[in-house]
Amino acid sequence: MWIRGCVEWGGPEARGRRNRRRSFRPQSVSADGLLAFARMVQTPTTTFADFAAAMKPRIDSALAEYANPGPGCPPVLAEAIRYSLLAPGKRLRPLLTLAAAEACGGSIEAALPAACAVEMIHSYSLVHDDLPAMDDDDLRRGRPTSHKVFGEGMAILAGDALLTLAFETLACRTNSPETAARCCAELAVAAGASQLVGGQADDLAEEGKLPGVERIERRTVEEGLAHLESIHRRKTGAMLLVSLRLGAIVARADAEQTAALDAYGERLGLTFQIMDDLLDVGGSEQNMGKRVGKDAARGKLTFPGLLGVDESLRRARSLTDEAIAALAPLGSDVEVLEDLARYVVERNH
Ligand code: IPE
Ligand code: IPE
Ligand code: MG
Ligand code: MG
Ligand code: MG
Repeated sequence: MWIRGCVEWGGPEARGRRNRRRSFRPQSVSADGLLAFARMVQTPTTTFADFAAAMKPRIDSALAEYANPGPGCPPVLAEAIRYSLLAPGKRLRPLLTLAAAEACGGSIEAALPAACAVEMIHSYSLVHDDLPAMDDDDLRRGRPTSHKVFGEGMAILAGDALLTLAFETLACRTNSPETAARCCAELAVAAGASQLVGGQADDLAEEGKLPGVERIERRTVEEGLAHLESIHRRKTGAMLLVSLRLGAIVARADAEQTAALDAYGERLGLTFQIMDDLLDVGGSEQNMGKRVGKDAARGKLTFPGLLGVDESLRRARSLTDEAIAALAPLGSDVEVLEDLARYVVERNH
């Protein structure tokens, strides 16, 4: 089964793979070999797992600090905001912001507000995505969805508040006003009607869930695939891409560094949603913290639905190779981003 071979991140198989990559077995006792061995021992590699373990507590405590609405906020609304934002997510988008900033020579501290802003938008998009009018889900991040706990009206409002809190965080906590303005503009486009929201609208239209919007019949697999890719790039890819771009802006990256991150992020973003589609078919509810097997039942347009599991996985892996290759202009400081791309196709949650 494909699922066993590709999504055992954290399991013994994946750890073995990672350790194999990191271990060094000298073939001879030449002076060069000994020197290389000594260098490797002195400068241990940083995997994405190490990076995530070190950064997640910083992200989580910044999120908890920033998500403190003023006295005008009804306590139950504040509770709903924090319930979804501080729930145990993977924090992949803020980790991308921090890893991109670091790869471009910037500081983690300066990139933290931007990292939190992308997680706020992401969390709002999940709250709304789960609503009965959208994907109608009752489990998220291992917990009942916001509307199940607080009711639909409050879930909608908590999402609204998270969306605006993202821009407040960027505007008020980013170091320079110029950097803040650039970040706000980029994030607004990525989260807006042409990207995240537009992709979500087309996703619902494909399911026949938007009254008045007719589903367009696409005659060939290629036509269907082009539309599906466009949905995935907008509803999911845009936020992953902008997470990297905000890290680059805060780190004052040059055009070449930004172009490399763009090429990487576009491929990573599409891969991420292909894997999400695959995990809906072959993942487990316990690992994912959300229901599985729902996409086909709802008539969603998905990669496995269109191309089958094997071909979808083949495309995800090939996009990952391309994403890693695109990092070359950034030089040698890209190990975390490389490993993160591998994690995205190996993940089980
Ligand atoms: C889920 O995103 C929604 C998609 C874009 C597929 P994640 O899988 O990153 O969810 P969390 O943040 O870890 O909960
Ligand atoms: C959601 O995609 C993308 C968002 C913008 C939230 P999905 O609907 O496939 O995400 P899950 O599977 O519910 O997490
Ligand atoms: Mg959805
Ligand atoms: Mg959904
Ligand atoms: Mg999904």
